[in-house]
Order: sequence, then structure tokens, then C-alpha cells
Amino acid sequence: MLTNDELAKWDRESFFHPSTHLGQFERGEAPQRIVTGGEGVFIQDRDGNRLLDGFAGLYCVNVGYGRTQIADAIAKQAHELAYYHSYAGHGSETSITLAKMVMDRAPKGMARVYFGLGGSDANETNIKLVWYYNNILGRPKKKKIISRWRGYHGSGLVTGSLTGLELFHKKFDLPLEHVIHTEAPYYFRRPDASMSEGDFVGYCVDKLEALIEAEGADNIAAFIGEPVLGTGGIVPPPAGYWEAIQKVLDKYDILLIADEVVTGFGRLGTMFGSDHYGMKPDLITSAKGLTSAYAPLSASIVGQKMWDVLSRGTDENGVLGHGWTYSAHPIGAAAGVANLKLIDELGLVENADKTGAYLNQRMQAAIGDHAHVGEVRGEGMLCAVELVADRDNRKFFDPSEGKGAKVVAAMLKRGVIARAMPQGDILGFAPPLCLTEAEADQIVNVTAEAVSEVLG
Ligand SMILES: Cc1ncc(COP(=O)(O)O)c(C=O)c1O
Repeated sequence: MLTNDELAKWDRESFFHPSTHLGQFERGEAPQRIVTGGEGVFIQDRDGNRLLDGFAGLYCVNVGYGRTQIADAIAKQAHELAYYHSYAGHGSETSITLAKMVMDRAPKGMARVYFGLGGSDANETNIKLVWYYNNILGRPKKKKIISRWRGYHGSGLVTGSLTGLELFHKKFDLPLEHVIHTEAPYYFRRPDASMSEGDFVGYCVDKLEALIEAEGADNIAAFIGEPVLGTGGIVPPPAGYWEAIQKVLDKYDILLIADEVVTGFGRLGTMFGSDHYGMKPDLITSAKGLTSAYAPLSASIVGQKMWDVLSRGTDENGVLGHGWTYSAHPIGAAAGVANLKLIDELGLVENADKTGAYLNQRMQAAIGDHAHVGEVRGEGMLCAVELVADRDNRKFFDPSEGKGAKVVAAMLKRGVIARAMPQGDILGFAPPLCLTEAEADQIVNVTAEAVSEVLG
């Protein structure tokens, strides 16, 4: 076996890591972790650490690590048929079975599912479908997409544009011209502290309507949003937000794309976030929880209204010119089938609701009153702690102080992984959905210790 030193050297010399400070990593100034295994909510690394993964990888290992049922299903599929394409009506028993299972679980009104590889390409597919749809309907100008500041939708050219975080735009010449952004439904950061939640929803609606009026409804095709803002800070929407937004979209004939890459398949304690908030999406983007990341696979779930037009479009124009070599890859599909069965068998959607609520209540009770905790918030198996310099005046820390990252580092020393969210001093938690109350206690206790070590 290679020594840790050799691997570490190869890593720094050869591996271009995503979302990494390249210079610091190359010079050995940035952390490096070589992960070797996992079981339940824990991972192990080559240095012998056993860590409670409070973020389920990148909020994706929903069933937890080391599930042999999924590994066996992948192996069986690889032996029987590792690959065949799905163009022109081809498929495999697993990909067809998974399509049926996804549609059985999807919110009402959905008609078909297209499989890709990850959340970014699924959103890319969805934007193309929206454009195709409006072209078939004879509305060639209706093409702009409204996204929200702090939304995260991937990091490709279109999806990085949809993402409303500066880090993903800066120096990449993004966003592209078809994408425009509106207010984030982030009540804690409302512009005026005296606003009630209801006032703030009204404010978001006014901002959206003003943008639509300024751009012209004839130019706007769709609105994309995560049911709960994820990477932008783990922010559940204020009460009534989606209902109010949906009304505006209906009024201006704008499609809704629910980006459920994080929330799909159980994370909010419901199968889909759209059901959780009563959203009526025309398209749903899903990935992570579809296979619990045991293999790459994404799903673009298409609503009936759009499906009818897409189908008509091919009668008029021939084959739909869209697809990837690996669309509906049998190994990803095998992982998906086994994963969805496991979610049902283990009652993980219910556990996300129950133990997620426990995690949030315990976190609130442990540190909700701390002088540097502005807010503890969450929904289902999602939780965030927003750190502030001055709680009474809602004053934030100077980002250069890196307080959030320091707390996360202090937690790591104590054996728990949290995520320092990229914009703001926000600790993010999205553990596997199989989390137990004892493990939730461990997350909370370690968070409280780390917060008091770094912030007093
Ligand atoms: C809501 C949301 N959409 C899309 C994506 C992009 O998915 P991927 O990283 O698989 O391309 C992510 C990734 O975190 C996400 O959180």
C-alpha cells in the first residue's frame, strides 16, 4: 500500500480538486484528507480518524455509508450489463424500473423522468427544455430565467449563471445574459429588521413583480428555486413564500423549476420539497438523494403540461436533439433502485422529519441564546447556525475573520464534520437521514463546545 506521504504528494502534484484554493493546496497550506471508508453516519480517513459526517458528504449520502444492499446491486448490474445507452428507445430493466419508482414518488402532475448524471446537468437539461417548449409554442422571445440571489443550481455555464453566489461568477464572465436574479427569501437578512415575515414575503413578491415588469413578461420563461435555499445558507422560506410566488408566476405565465437536488427523496421529511411547501412545479431537478451518491445519477422530472408540448414538438420537428452517452446509466439506475427501496424499508423520510426536528430543537436549546448566534434555523434534516458579531444589532462578522471556518475546524478536532457555508459565517448541517438521537446529541454538543472555544 502507498504510504500517506506518497499519496499526499501525488495528490498535491496531480489532482485538480473542485472548489479548492488551488495555490494553497499546491503549496501544502490547505487541508488534505484522504477518506478510506464509511459506516452509517461516520467516515474514516487514512490518518485513523473516525468522523461523524454532519453534512453527508455534500448533503447526498442520505442512507448513510456502507450500505451493502446498494453495493451489491451495483456489482450485480456491473456483471450483468455495465452499460448500454438509452437513446432512441433503448433502456435496461433497471433504468425502466427506476423511472417507474421515481414517477410513483413524484408530486402530482408529473409525467416523465429524464436521467442524467448530476444536479448541474439536470438543470442544464431543464433550461433547454424550457427554451424548446417556448419555441414550440411560438414564443421565441420568452427565454429569460429568473433565479434568486444565494440560490445554488450548479457550476456549469448556464447553471453557474443561475447560481446566485458571487464566488461562482467572479472571473468566469458569469452570469450569461439569459439569467437574471431576484431577492433571496432570507428573512434573517431582511433589509429592514422591523419587517414581519408577512411583510418580507410581500417585499420579495414586489421585487419579483418589478423585475418581471422591467424585463417584460413576454421575455421571461421560468423561475428556478430550491424549496429551501441550500448552499446559500440553508434558509427555509418565510411562511407563505411559495404560495405567494406561485401566484405571481401563474399571473405572468412563467414556468416553475423546483431545484430539489438537495430536498428530493426525503431530506425535508417529505419525499419532495414541492409537496412540503405546496409548490406546483413544471419541472423538478433531482440528483443527490436519488442514489444517495452511491453512483452518479440525476433526474429531470417533467410535468404533464410541458410533456405534451415536448411530445408535439417532436411530431413537428423530429427527434429531440438532447442526450448524454451516460443518460440513465445502468449502474446509476441500479444504485437508485436499491437506494429508494432502502429509504422505504428503513423509514428514512419519517426519520428525517422526526430526528431532524430533534436535531433542530436540541441545537436551538444548546446555543440559540449565545451572544454570537444570530439564528438557529432548519427544516427536516437540515439545520444551520448563523454566527453574528452583535446579536442585538444583527451585525455580521467581517468575512476576513473566517469565524465560521474556525468553528468548523474546532468541531473537526472533536470528530464532527459541519460545513462552513460559502457566503456568511454559517455552520451547515445535513446529516444522513438515518441519524439517531444519540448522534444528533453528539453534533449539538460538539457545536456548542466549538462555538464557545472560538467565540467565547
Ligand atoms: C440545489 C442544487 N442544485 C444543483 C446542484 C448541482 O449539483 P451537482 O454538484 O451534482 O452538479 C447542487 C449541488 O450541490 C445543489 O445543491
